[in-house]
Amino acid sequence: MQSLIGSLSFKTMGNDFDISSLENKVKRLKDEFDSELSSAKEEQDISRIKSKYIGKKGLLQDLFKLIPQIPESERKLAGKILNDFKQYVEEKLEDLKSALERKQVEFSEDITLPGRRSFSANLHPITVALREITEIFEKMGFEVESGPEMEEDWYNFTALNIPPDHPARDMQDTFYLEDGRLLRTHTSPVQIRAMEKRKGVLPIKIIAPGRVFRRDWDATHSPVFHQVEGLFVDKKVKMSDLFGVLEFFFKKFFGEGTRVRFRPSYFPFTEPSAEVDISCVCGGKSKDCKVCKGSGFLEVAGCGMVHPEVFRSVGYEGVQGFAFGMGVERLAMIKFGISDIRLLFGENYIAFKKTFF
Ligand code: DAH
Repeated sequence: MQSLIGSLSFKTMGNDFDISSLENKVKRLKDEFDSELSSAKEEQDISRIKSKYIGKKGLLQDLFKLIPQIPESERKLAGKILNDFKQYVEEKLEDLKSALERKQVEFSEDITLPGRRSFSANLHPITVALREITEIFEKMGFEVESGPEMEEDWYNFTALNIPPDHPARDMQDTFYLEDGRLLRTHTSPVQIRAMEKRKGVLPIKIIAPGRVFRRDWDATHSPVFHQVEGLFVDKKVKMSDLFGVLEFFFKKFFGEGTRVRFRPSYFPFTEPSAEVDISCVCGGKSKDCKVCKGSGFLEVAGCGMVHPEVFRSVGYEGVQGFAFGMGVERLAMIKFGISDIRLLFGENYIAFKKTFF
């Protein structure tokens, strides 16, 4: 290119510079521009070419400087030739620029492909329920305790006043280990462990959330599920204390409008014992409500005053207490309107999550 300008300047030293030789120069310049443009690949090439040809110190500018040497009658035409070339360069560069931009978009994202669906990371309904349950009891001053999932017969049954020949054992069939231990069937053994650990230091006010196991598998029973146990032991504890604590809890968990009902029942480790029902979401108005089956109430927990035999098994004397136990899956299913417990686990849960979240 340098040579082109060199010869241009040289030739114009004389007075033989006319319009046709300007046309020739421009044509050569245009050919050179075209070939350079065809090999331009990126944004940077465009700005480089632009300043080389039509920039303030560019080649076209050099040609403009020659205009005074052209006979006056032809100057107007000369100006037009140069301006046309300038316009040509500008248009070509602009076209290339938008072509490059389009290409970049095409490469960076294929907007014709449907987007991949992403799932929000939310907590499992059991986790949500467990956290909420724990928070409410902590507000009432309960501490969180835990115990082993592989439990000894003594803690799971015998110390809880369920001797080897007791029929209650049949209702809690479970998985036994070769060494005689078993997968705990409820969180009640933590009552025994907590009392042993505290060696009679009162009051004892604990909840024990955790995993439990049974030989069950249907729409409302899973072989692995969660319970929250509660235990309150002090010198003097009344059954109305138990009622007050559970009523407060269920109203906080299910809403202030929830009614709580206690029904006499039987558990080997409490006396007296009661079953806890809450008013159904249908308000008891619908005779064919699928949740409460028209009864208006839902059974949500078992409770009672700690049986003297239980205190005896840990060597406690002159104390009173209450205990309760609730199934977390059941509470979560009622709270979140989930009809089948199996939806909460494994493959089923993944499908369920895809449908509902
Ligand atoms: N452990 C019982 C069960 O799994 C539930 C239960 C009932 C726990 C009454 C208690 C209680 O502490 O007082 O069926």
